[in-house]
Amino acid sequence: MNAFEYHQGELFCERVPLRKLAAKFGTPLYVYSRNHIVGQFAGLDRAFRQIDHLVCYAVKANSNLAIIGELAKAGAGFDIVSAGELYRVVRAGGEPGKCVFSGVGKTVEEIEYALKLGIYIFNVESEAELRQLDCVARRLKKRAPIAVRVNPGVDPETHHYISTGKEESKFGISIKRALGVYREASRLAGVEIRGVQMHIGSQIVKTQPYVLASRKLLGLVEEVRQLAPATLKTVDLGGGIGIRYKDQTPPTPQQFAAAVLPLVKNVGLRVLLEPGRFIVGNGGVLVTRVIYVKKTPVKTFVITDAAMNDLIRPALYSSYHEIVPVKATKTGKIKADIVGPVCESGDFFAEARAIAAVGEGELLVLKSAGAYGMAMASNYNSRPRPAEVLVNGSRVDLIRRRETLKDLISGEKIS
Ligand code: LLP
Repeated sequence: MNAFEYHQGELFCERVPLRKLAAKFGTPLYVYSRNHIVGQFAGLDRAFRQIDHLVCYAVKANSNLAIIGELAKAGAGFDIVSAGELYRVVRAGGEPGKCVFSGVGKTVEEIEYALKLGIYIFNVESEAELRQLDCVARRLKKRAPIAVRVNPGVDPETHHYISTGKEESKFGISIKRALGVYREASRLAGVEIRGVQMHIGSQIVKTQPYVLASRKLLGLVEEVRQLAPATLKTVDLGGGIGIRYKDQTPPTPQQFAAAVLPLVKNVGLRVLLEPGRFIVGNGGVLVTRVIYVKKTPVKTFVITDAAMNDLIRPALYSSYHEIVPVKATKTGKIKADIVGPVCESGDFFAEARAIAAVGEGELLVLKSAGAYGMAMASNYNSRPRPAEVLVNGSRVDLIRRRETLKDLISGEKIS
């Protein structure tokens, strides 16, 4: 579904005009479509219905409690990477027993917390972590369920910063060494081998890298099964399914399933997926107001009240977000840099972009901002972070209030 559409010259989220939301809650404002987000989850879930599977939403993409809560109600599991994310899942009504815990640097405190809550699987990224898990679990008189995160050495053909499956990346354990790590795991009393896992990158818009990497991963399964015939239960293909920001044509859930299902369906293991961006990316926008239009002899700058601290993706990855006016105009286009008020030249949303001719006080929308938008927002330049609103049909919920100036200094003191 396309949750953000124009009706009678005005941009809506589902059945609510964004103009109304901006007037009520102020700007910059994140607005999410509940039905897009739950629909994306349900679409992927349905595409795998013929086999035992669990879609574990990657909380890092958007960790608002309301969004986690909606997905928990829809039956999702979760991919978490910190105690903080696990805490959020629990507070939002999700089940620790449906959570997989990824990340290269899990601390003792995080491992204890997750073990006590009864986490589903730790995705182990090094021998050192494996030994730490064994040690903490034995101390707590528990067994830590693990999967080794296997680095299959496949190029996901995406941005360097978000490509994780290549041999030189810090993530996972190279496929050549993975079996040795499983052997060690099988000898540790505090560890139980539950699965095999990979995650090769993010914003992957082709199915081929998944097919190549899955084949390699599955090549390992029989040997791992011999080490742990009774406990091996899962194969996790990771997240990374891309979305359309501009002109990409990522696979639909059906196309993705058609590519990987033939490989995994007869392996006799539950298939796990860890999508983040796919679920929330196109389900959210950032609404912002134009403060000034600044014309210099060489350029026009549209200065918005949102900045890189609110949405860092363009500054960090040169990523493209479509920018459209809330009120459709027929006045033609201008070529401008869309920038925020932060004191950095890197604080731009777009450079030399042809956009609708907007004036001061008018509203713009940065699209496809549901994933890694608010989740990566900061208080840089002492800017309070935006509010977040969830729309469901014509229902509107403020799911995070705008930060105040007082919030900015809470926790600090004058020495
Ligand atoms: N599983 C693991 C182990 C991950 O590291 C990630 C993302 C995911 C799942 C979810 O990936 P997704 O389905 O969302 O692509 N901030 C960057 C993206 C960083 C992704 C990090 N890992 C961005 O804004 O593009």
